[in-house]
Amino acid sequence: MIKQREQWGSKLGFILAAAGSAVGLGNIWKFPYLVGENGGAAFIILYLICVLLVGLPAVMAEILIGRTTQKNPVGCFRELSKKNPFWMGVGLLGIITGFIILSYYNVIAGWSLGYIIESVKGSFHNMENPEIAGELFFQNSTNFKWVLPLHAGFMFFTIAIIYSGVNKGIEKASKFLMPALLLFIFILVVRGITLDGAQKGIDYLLKADFSSVTAKTVSLALGQAFFSLSLGMGALLTYGSYMSKKDNIITSSVSIVALDTLIAIFAGFMIFPALFALQMQPDQGPALIFNILPVMFNSIPGGYFFRILFFILLSVAALTSTISLLEVITAYVVDEFKIPRKKATILLGVIVFLIGIPNALSFGVMQDFTIFGKTFFNLFDYIASNIFLPLGGLCITIFVGWFWKKQDVVDNITEGSKGISPIIINIWFYLVKFIVPVLIFLIFLTSLGIITI
Ligand code: PHE
Repeated sequence: MIKQREQWGSKLGFILAAAGSAVGLGNIWKFPYLVGENGGAAFIILYLICVLLVGLPAVMAEILIGRTTQKNPVGCFRELSKKNPFWMGVGLLGIITGFIILSYYNVIAGWSLGYIIESVKGSFHNMENPEIAGELFFQNSTNFKWVLPLHAGFMFFTIAIIYSGVNKGIEKASKFLMPALLLFIFILVVRGITLDGAQKGIDYLLKADFSSVTAKTVSLALGQAFFSLSLGMGALLTYGSYMSKKDNIITSSVSIVALDTLIAIFAGFMIFPALFALQMQPDQGPALIFNILPVMFNSIPGGYFFRILFFILLSVAALTSTISLLEVITAYVVDEFKIPRKKATILLGVIVFLIGIPNALSFGVMQDFTIFGKTFFNLFDYIASNIFLPLGGLCITIFVGWFWKKQDVVDNITEGSKGISPIIINIWFYLVKFIVPVLIFLIFLTSLGIITI
């Protein structure tokens, strides 16, 4: 007997689950360090432009494809393109990207799990200097006996949730965890900006200096917008496939994008004022939040508990994203190969864990093993965020703008969106048809050095 496809219990459930996918390490771990490495406010402004002009319209397009067909990424394109192999390949690219991202994302998620343990142990107690925290981070992240069990542990949690079905698990958890996350970040922002010497950090986030912006910065900002919005690889498409036709794609997309962007900006305000107050350098790369935050908590009453809570929430934010990544791959395998969900989940989880091992070791024993001058970890991240996700987004928007009948597109997006003016729908459609693909394409060319700005 074929089980009926599950659906979200409510519109809010969908929004929070999709926002749960979007909000994750990308916001709290990656966005701040990209800001720190790429000139502060100028990067933030570029990022916001990318989100508004490219991200939001593309989010709507991706959810629309999923909701219309109620299928996995490959199945969606098979149905809409009448089995055209190119478009089915676009769906498949999404699945491959899912494997790649999950295999390194899970490693960082594992670190945050490890930091819950460090926090409980009181490892940061009396650490006044983030450099000492940096040493601990170095010791841990280079030690395979630390990284590999955590990588496995986090994958275990991810598998466990997907194994027991998405809807009740993810939806219920997201409804509770997302507001908690928001509240908690807010508390940390207030603490960060009220520290002595925080002003320099606030200036860093607000005063834009475009002199150091290059083509690479623009392409990083676009890549980050895609990564942070979970866009371009079928995650939103898959979540959209569980969405009821009665729900409003436009307002849901706006909420998801707004939540994601807000949390990224908040994460900046949580970290940089504290960073400057502690007189550290902003360009520390992936180690940034693991060095600054643990120490910052020492200046907060009840810091011991806040620190534990912070890493729990970071892990939870990561978990609601890893779930969505594993769900994309699982939905594909279940739909296309008719493998039972539980079997597929375990099999895929184990495969991703294995692919992730070189990523986990990239900071230690395999740190000198480089391809194109990048470690496995950096290469995977670069290929996924800066090439595959924008490429996926490009193809998805081209499909909606040029290969799907306009009337069908408009009818489908209007379904559940009663009361939204046709002018808005038209603006969206033309953004998707012309502006979004052209911008992505131009940014691609600049990042490849074919045109220069
Ligand atoms: N958006 C997630 C984050 O910011 C990462 C992610 C990318 C999740 C792509 C799913 C798909 O952490």
